[in-house]
Amino acid sequence: MTVCVLHAAAEMFPLLKTGGLADVVGALPPAQSQLGTDARVVLPGFPAVLAGLADLEPVADLGGAFGAGNVRLERGVLKPHGVTVYVVRADPFYDRPGNPYMDAANHPYADNDRRFALLGWTAARIATGADPAWKPHIVHAHDWHAGLAPAYLRAFERSGAPHVASVMTVHNLAYQGTFPASEFGALQLPGDFYAMEGLEFYGHVSFLKAGLYYADRITTVSPTYAREIQTQAHGAGLHGLLQTRTHDITGILNGVDYSIWSPSVDESIASKYTAAKPGSGKSKCKAALQERMGLAKDDDALLFGVVSRLTEQKGLDLLLSAVPDIVQRGGQLVVLGTGDPALETGMKNAAAAHPGAVAVELGFDETLSHSIIAGSDIVMVPSRFEPCGLTQLYALAYGSLPLVHRVGGLADTVADSSLENLADDLATGFVFDTFDRAGIVGAIRRAFALKARRTDWKAVVKRAMGQNFGWEAAALAYAEVYQGLLGP
Ligand code: ADP
Ligand code: GLC
Repeated sequence: MTVCVLHAAAEMFPLLKTGGLADVVGALPPAQSQLGTDARVVLPGFPAVLAGLADLEPVADLGGAFGAGNVRLERGVLKPHGVTVYVVRADPFYDRPGNPYMDAANHPYADNDRRFALLGWTAARIATGADPAWKPHIVHAHDWHAGLAPAYLRAFERSGAPHVASVMTVHNLAYQGTFPASEFGALQLPGDFYAMEGLEFYGHVSFLKAGLYYADRITTVSPTYAREIQTQAHGAGLHGLLQTRTHDITGILNGVDYSIWSPSVDESIASKYTAAKPGSGKSKCKAALQERMGLAKDDDALLFGVVSRLTEQKGLDLLLSAVPDIVQRGGQLVVLGTGDPALETGMKNAAAAHPGAVAVELGFDETLSHSIIAGSDIVMVPSRFEPCGLTQLYALAYGSLPLVHRVGGLADTVADSSLENLADDLATGFVFDTFDRAGIVGAIRRAFALKARRTDWKAVVKRAMGQNFGWEAAALAYAEVYQGLLGP
């Protein structure tokens, strides 16, 4: 039997991206198709989504819902890999300026609960026959935006619809989609769902909790994060529920789409290079990056790169405290990011204090992100917590050694250049244990020390580039989760 899966999510690369969620939703379905699964995606009809799909055609009229006017279901194809994408067409909800979640002034849209309830509801409608030509066996919801999908499935089942299995994937427990209890009435769910044994969370409606409570299985994006979220320290208030579901939780590490993130095929970098011979190609990328960012053009300066959302999660305040340690040792730092105004200002101040050594670009720039991953010697991901993290995986592929905090997916994917790891041929980067200045500075010093040992440095770069985090392993692991729901 061909397993049919419907992914419900808010973002999908290359249509629309604000973070790693988009990369995952862009890469997992084609990897699943390779294994024979019929994997499709449902997205809100944001303008960029509509513009990026080919062969868009109407599928069904879903009637009026959530005050969005008349909602239509459309279906298109995402080229080149040919994944079928359903679109929730509700222009009053989705045809707006700004990013998917916030207006142009960075304020969350006041009706986000209804905008994303519509996504979960539509996923459940597709699962119960809205497209006469196709029905999934499994609805696979990603993050809080799609968290109500398992709740609607349960509600429809109660009204006589057949059971459709669901999987909830947590990409980040810090974003929960909580809304005032007074909004519950607008969600078209049975009244008793607003309960502790349901989607109520400390007097609010929680979309993420709905997904965690009503889904048949829960996955998250690394084995370490799967353990962490079941502890009080990292459970963001949901550890109690997660502990009761411990046997339904699986940590599945994200992968890398090497057709996009490989220095040997990357059209957006200054010079392509391979793992067999990174040398001059990588140096050209570094020189081009230094030039583009206004840094001193010096191949010997150890260049640290950051590509990141500028939020508390990412630990960049700690990095800011260590900037003098990088610069005093002759290193350079380049940062691409956007987010919290305080962090944006901190970055700009650092650049102003160290002209030629620290350069910052505020904004979201896909092409520059590739240039930084390729042109840096070190890519820093000092996150307080990190469910998986993709930039350190991209860094490995480009031979730019990741420097990370030992947490979540970072702990699962990077091996420190300690003496014993160097001796045993295991090192792929730099890992620090304690989230404080001493921790990060220790790792920075290790990076300078390794750079001074040319042979060891080259060996670590080679090992980093040889790591395989392709999507096939994850696709197989998800297939196993689905199999557990559908039976042999
Ligand atoms: P998160 O999803 O928490 O932001 P990940 O490491 O999983 O972190 O994924 C981040 C993704 O977003 C990567 O593809 C990274 O390159 C990209 N990214 C983050 N910030 C920017 C930016 N300012 N410009 C371009 N790409 C960015
Ligand atoms: C989230 C997490 C990040 C993860 C990404 C994709 O945004 O913060 O760690 O890699 O989702 O799963």
